Amino acid sequence: MSASIQSSGGVITCRAAVAWGPGQPLVLEEVEVAPPKSMEIRVKVVCTSLCRSDVTQWQSQAQPDLFPRIFGHEASGIVEGIGDGVTEFEIGDHVLTVFIGECGRCTHCRSSKSNMCQNLGLERRGLMHSDQMTRFRVKGRPAYHYCAVSSFSEYIVVHSGCAVKINPTVRMDRACLLSCGVAAGIGAAWNVADISKESTIVIFGLGTVGLSVAQAAKIRGASRIIGVDINPEKFEKGKTFGVTEYINPDECREPVQQVIKKLTDGGADFSFECIGDTDIVSTALQSCCDGWGVTVTLGVPKTKPEVSTHYAFLLTGRTLKGSLFGGWKPKSDLPSLVDKYSNGEIKLDELVTHEIPFERINDAFDLMREGSCLRCVIHMQKEL
Ligand SMILES: NC(=O)c1ccc[n+]([C@@H]2O[C@H](COP(=O)([O-])OP(=O)(O)OC[C@H]3O[C@@H](n4cnc5c(N)ncnc54)[C@H](O)[C@@H]3O)[C@@H](O)[C@H]2O)c1
Ligand SMILES: [Zn+2]
Ligand SMILES: [Zn+2]
Repeated sequence: MSASIQSSGGVITCRAAVAWGPGQPLVLEEVEVAPPKSMEIRVKVVCTSLCRSDVTQWQSQAQPDLFPRIFGHEASGIVEGIGDGVTEFEIGDHVLTVFIGECGRCTHCRSSKSNMCQNLGLERRGLMHSDQMTRFRVKGRPAYHYCAVSSFSEYIVVHSGCAVKINPTVRMDRACLLSCGVAAGIGAAWNVADISKESTIVIFGLGTVGLSVAQAAKIRGASRIIGVDINPEKFEKGKTFGVTEYINPDECREPVQQVIKKLTDGGADFSFECIGDTDIVSTALQSCCDGWGVTVTLGVPKTKPEVSTHYAFLLTGRTLKGSLFGGWKPKSDLPSLVDKYSNGEIKLDELVTHEIPFERINDAFDLMREGSCLRCVIHMQKEL
């Protein structure tokens, strides 16, 4: 491990897909990327996949002053520059970026019960954790970050606690999926719900996150995995990931929770909200059983952030939990998930429905908004 490697250089000029306003198509612009500061690294992004959270935040009108902004957070790359004090990485290391970091020192990092790092947690103001500034400039103005990653740029600066070194033989165009959505789903099933053998599961939303819950539930030996989605095409793919039954709520004559209760003799053991709709959180809670039913909510709400449900659903013994990044501590846990992909224990390839060059990044947004993709991998550095 080398003690002090110097950054490979000064300001880099490269291309980034810049959002100039909420919901406005991204524009490929020339941006300046500052060198990494203390405890930061600069990364050449190789692949980034589009997560629903990017689309939700890009469409949101809640923070109109945080533009121009560079979205993207599900990414793989190669370390290009190293800031002072960083001993963990060397230039050329392959990394995944993460939107929840691990400083290793705070109360939460030291607790086995949490991945909510107090120093490198979810960044909501479009700035870097360490100095509340940005490392990008576009047309002479600062450009805001997203989740302290901003992988829709050919080069990015991230805190060294928000990157995870991975085995360099693993495909970068697949490993990037583990940097957010797939890990979030698998971890929700294994770490947060702690699904037991023979249990009955209901998953609301069969996108990448929901299907990752499904594959993790199948691996744990769940006996029934019921998928609920308004898009029937998702069930075909769902079968590959272990979904055994499908319900289209638009075709139900009664509320979907009643249908599920009848199908499961009183409710499922576990239910998961993987859509980003807080009304569905209550539906998911009502779909699991009295006594021991557990609902895990993962979705990032598109609009109403409040959850409302009848108190009786909790009094009768259900538990409502939430999780970011599936409860994984990224540095401690992500390398073993990458190994599971390499060993064929978890699937990623089947979630990649589209691959496009960086120039066509707006197509990825269109595909996700139309509901016609799971993950679209954007190749940042090569022509396809
Ligand atoms: N908690 C975390 O750490 C974490 C990580 C990644 C993504 N997310 C969030 O998880 C959610 C899912 O992400 P994704 O990338 O799989 O999204 P996605 O858009 O690919 O999948 C969502 C699925 O929900 C379905 N759907 C939409 N409205 C529905 C409704 N009313 N009833 C039933 N099905 C409905 C869609 O057809 C789609 O198949 C998003 O809210 C995303 O922001 C959370
Ligand atoms: Zn920490
Ligand atoms: Zn994400």
